[in-house]
Amino acid sequence: MTDDVLVVHGGTPLHGEIRVRGAKNLVSKAMVAALLGESESRLYDVPRIRDVEVVRGLLELHGVRVSEGPDGELIFDPSNVEEANVDEINVHAGSSRIPILFCGPLLHRLGRAFIPNLGGCRIGDRPIDFHLNALREFGAVVDKTPEGLHIAAPRGLRGAKLTLPYPSVGATEQVLLTAVRAEGTTELRNAAVEPEIIDLICVLQKMGAIINVHTDRVLRIEGVPSLSGYRHRPLPDRLEAASWACAALATHGDVYVRGARQVDMSTFLNVFRTIGGAFEVDDSPEGGIRFWHPGGELRAVALETDVHPGLMTDWQQPLVVALTQARGLSIVHETVYEQRFGFTEALVKMGATIQLYRECLGSTPCRFGQRNFLHSAVISGPSKLHAADLEIPDLRGGFSHFIAALAAEGTSRVYGVSLINRGYEDFEAKLTALGAHIERP
Ligand code: EPZ
Repeated sequence: MTDDVLVVHGGTPLHGEIRVRGAKNLVSKAMVAALLGESESRLYDVPRIRDVEVVRGLLELHGVRVSEGPDGELIFDPSNVEEANVDEINVHAGSSRIPILFCGPLLHRLGRAFIPNLGGCRIGDRPIDFHLNALREFGAVVDKTPEGLHIAAPRGLRGAKLTLPYPSVGATEQVLLTAVRAEGTTELRNAAVEPEIIDLICVLQKMGAIINVHTDRVLRIEGVPSLSGYRHRPLPDRLEAASWACAALATHGDVYVRGARQVDMSTFLNVFRTIGGAFEVDDSPEGGIRFWHPGGELRAVALETDVHPGLMTDWQQPLVVALTQARGLSIVHETVYEQRFGFTEALVKMGATIQLYRECLGSTPCRFGQRNFLHSAVISGPSKLHAADLEIPDLRGGFSHFIAALAAEGTSRVYGVSLINRGYEDFEAKLTALGAHIERP
């Protein structure tokens, strides 16, 4: 356990520059898409993070040859796709949720797929019913066993008319990755349209897919008999960029996030400005966004997370830390995941005043009201944060703990830091580059 601890001496503003690479939540899906191609694919600017390692390992277990080029380039050769050993898949998948997206591509390539029991951040129940119902509509047969899911498509996959009960990112990706090579037309209603999904559609179009994005969350996909490989530069990681922006704000710092792109972050930027943060967009080819605390007091605000183009749920946790420093009462209604405020317990321990509520404190339609989920938060600030011993609960909540420890007075110990490497490349090196006083015990 001791090698998984960082000591954080708080109270120093973060100053300097870091760079974000391709978005974790696109890169991992584009890697799965490479399985669908009949020729080599090349993905550029891939971050060195644990989620990428997991997907790479799963691809290799299925016979895809993966090699590396310069500057984060990954090359996938899918000419020998083969079935993998169930035990090896189970060991390798670890706590990732990406394996569920292997279904469509493996069914097309091999007629069968095995999917281990899924992990992922514990931020809610995280069921996969939408995925399995969609696969069944395409003609797949799902057999649930204690070791995982055995899925087969004895008569191939056929296009289907589908409506998601909620615009789930993963289920939309599932449908895309399955429909592109299914026979006939697929119509998906109530689809997610996050920028990472639009970028995945770009990847698939490069491979030869025909996908139309209509208004009102409707996608229409014309299945094609075969796909080729792709060359793709992913959209930048807007979740990581927002995390560093909030770290700059909460520590009274000034951070230039090279690679951050305005168009993917406009909802976040509006909130950042509303609460008193300053930013400047640099549109040059190698540009980014500079985020800083302009002095004076931060302002309280009422927020609700939502599917795109609403305020992304992964922006909520770092924003909450910044809101502990804002004057007045802030209200945050989380409508995407039912249990995404677990990380606030540690903030309260550090001196923040945060009260959680079961009620919907906001007007966005939400599935969690009257269901006993503490999914609204009221934050009263500004609070002086003091150091504490912290245990990383999940990826975004964990980063937020770091922000709090950096903003706090005194020395904190943060346990379980390796979880952060799932989604943040060179996390410790970036903190050091920004002048944070951190050390291994
Ligand atoms: C993706 O998760 C991201 N993960 C999440 O980021 C992100 O928070 C989320 O989308 C929302 O934008 C990846 O891309 C790897 P969902 P995903 O399906 O696809 C419910 C991070 O830290 N649901 O859109 O798993 C579900 O319980 C992670 O980078 C069902 O009920 O999210 C949730 O309440 C955390 N049944 C809601 O839909 C299903 O079958 C949205 O989940 C599927 C989902």
